[in-house]
Amino acid sequence: MTPSSDIPGSVESGADVTSAQDVVNSLRDLTVQAVSELYVKYQDDLRAVRDRQRDFLQRRGKSMKAQLDDYEAEITYLLLREYRPETVVEIGTFYGWSTMWILSALRDNGIGHLYSFDIVDHVVSNVPDDLSAARWTFTKGDVRETLGGIVTGTDYLFIDADHGARFGRWYVENVFPMVRPGTPTSVHDVFHGRRPKPISEGSVLMKWLAEHDKSFFTSSAAKAPEVIEHLSKVKEELRLSTPVRDSRHNPMVFFTLG
Ligand SMILES: C[S@@+](CC[C@H](N)C(=O)[O-])C[C@H]1O[C@@H](n2cnc3c(N)ncnc32)[C@H](O)[C@@H]1O
Repeated sequence: MTPSSDIPGSVESGADVTSAQDVVNSLRDLTVQAVSELYVKYQDDLRAVRDRQRDFLQRRGKSMKAQLDDYEAEITYLLLREYRPETVVEIGTFYGWSTMWILSALRDNGIGHLYSFDIVDHVVSNVPDDLSAARWTFTKGDVRETLGGIVTGTDYLFIDADHGARFGRWYVENVFPMVRPGTPTSVHDVFHGRRPKPISEGSVLMKWLAEHDKSFFTSSAAKAPEVIEHLSKVKEELRLSTPVRDSRHNPMVFFTLG
């Protein structure tokens, strides 16, 4: 067994991880090793989703502004497959790239409903009907006014919205306390560099995680380049290396609330 502190991508975690099942128990223990196992476990379904997402993007061309990069989108998909959440909350859809990755995981699970929130509604015309039908609710408006009580029952929280410090303070103070302990959570646009920008959502989040003694996982090219290095080899072996998108920043962080 390898101590997680020796495995790239296990950031400030003190626990060991031996199997993908441990990932289900707590994102606190998430390591590149565990993520690699999820790539192996779900490789066939992931291949189909990657091909479909790539085709979609190519067909849409510049009219589709996709934000999530491949590793963080794939890790989101894999964690959703492994957790099999009944309820997912997504804050920040834009044109629906993350929405489509999340809905693909719920479709492949055969269970789960996604509640998405955004000020703009480009996503509504973008997400294919076969993905959204019977498993998706979109609410237009400022999420600080529209979120309501749904978040208290969520099994997975996904945030990719306003990257200012004020918005970060809003959700750490008002949303995180409402979410059930143990809920897997991810936040985008934190590590574009080795550190989050000062006075940003990312710096508010990192301070909150430190104050609550919480570790996180990231595949950020700037923060944890060894993670992408390791996962790229796994993907090559699985013949999953053709890019879906060409951007490789992967600034998202993954952690567990509560
Ligand atoms: C970076 S984009 C989301 C990208 C998307 N997740 C993807 O993968 O393509 C950020 C989105 O957050 C939305 N947003 C920003 N502030 C918001 C707020 N207070 N309430 C709801 N949505 C907000 C913006 O309208 C924008 O569409």
